[in-house]
Amino acid sequence: MTDVPDVSLNDGRTIPQLGFGVFQIDPAETAEAVRTAIEVGYRHIDTAEMYGNEKEVGEGVRSSGIDRDDVFVTSKLNNSFHRPDDARRAFDGTLEALGFDHVDLFLIHWPLPTRYDGDFVSTWKTMEEFYRDGRARSIGVSNFTPHHLRRLARETEVIPAVNQVEVHPFFTNDEVRAYGAEHGIATEAWSPIAQGGVLKDPTIVTIAERVDRTPAQVTLRWHLQRGDIVFPKSVTESRVRENFALFDFELSDDDIAAISALNRDERTGADPDTFDYVP
Ligand SMILES: NC(=O)c1ccc[n+]([C@@H]2O[C@H](COP(=O)([O-])OP(=O)(O)OC[C@H]3O[C@@H](n4cnc5c(N)ncnc54)[C@H](OP(=O)(O)O)[C@@H]3O)[C@@H](O)[C@H]2O)c1
Repeated sequence: MTDVPDVSLNDGRTIPQLGFGVFQIDPAETAEAVRTAIEVGYRHIDTAEMYGNEKEVGEGVRSSGIDRDDVFVTSKLNNSFHRPDDARRAFDGTLEALGFDHVDLFLIHWPLPTRYDGDFVSTWKTMEEFYRDGRARSIGVSNFTPHHLRRLARETEVIPAVNQVEVHPFFTNDEVRAYGAEHGIATEAWSPIAQGGVLKDPTIVTIAERVDRTPAQVTLRWHLQRGDIVFPKSVTESRVRENFALFDFELSDDDIAAISALNRDERTGADPDTFDYVP
């Protein structure tokens, strides 16, 4: 089986650099999708309370036949639960839905600077409790920008292990990635193929033809060579396999630079400074 590289986290733990995302997978299809991904070789699943499929992720892991300890599972605190007591209840609920006694990584899903009086600091201090009691082996954030991270660094003790943010060739998000690199925060790139949006780009298609791989494989390989953690989503088994076959070819520095140059600061998702959705 392919060996997926591990990325070292600032808390001494490691995370498989390639995983499987389950955003927008119907709960009814999730257990099967997770089983398929594990059968293909994925050992890292990225879910969230917001996705409504934590329970089915747990079922998929349990019915896959591999040990719980051999899969890295991430979930996230939903936007409605930023107040400390709500966060504690929500984290209990996440573990209960998954059917696990711990998660490998738990993230604040969005900073919501315009909600809760902008107080994501209390939320982070509550995340530190989950880390200290061992039920979250690592803790991190998602959709945080450098100024949110600077505030956590000033006002709290634990540095987030990861920051999960939108990154793909049309939105390279390099300022956030550079802050992470400088401060020991691993970058996880969400929507790594921009939900399919980058796959017809002529630069990516041309490179893919030359290296005899698909545009999705070239894009995912670009992420891996830049050092980011990725977890593409697919409910199509052939794509789940395709997205895992990234370790028998390499892109040249020129190819990496050409793909990075496609950046046009074009998000597919929300801007973390203004996003205020609370379910
Ligand atoms: N923290 C956050 O705020 C946040 C936000 C968004 C996403 N995420 C995480 O990041 C993960 C990945 O992002 P994402 O799901 O938004 O988008 P993505 O992985 O960039 O793209 C998924 C889409 O691309 C299609 N696809 C997958 N592989 C393909 C391939 N090889 N060729 C052609 N099409 C392909 C899938 O179709 P089919 O499924 O129909 O095959 C699906 O429509 C999520 O599942 C979630 O875990 C986090």
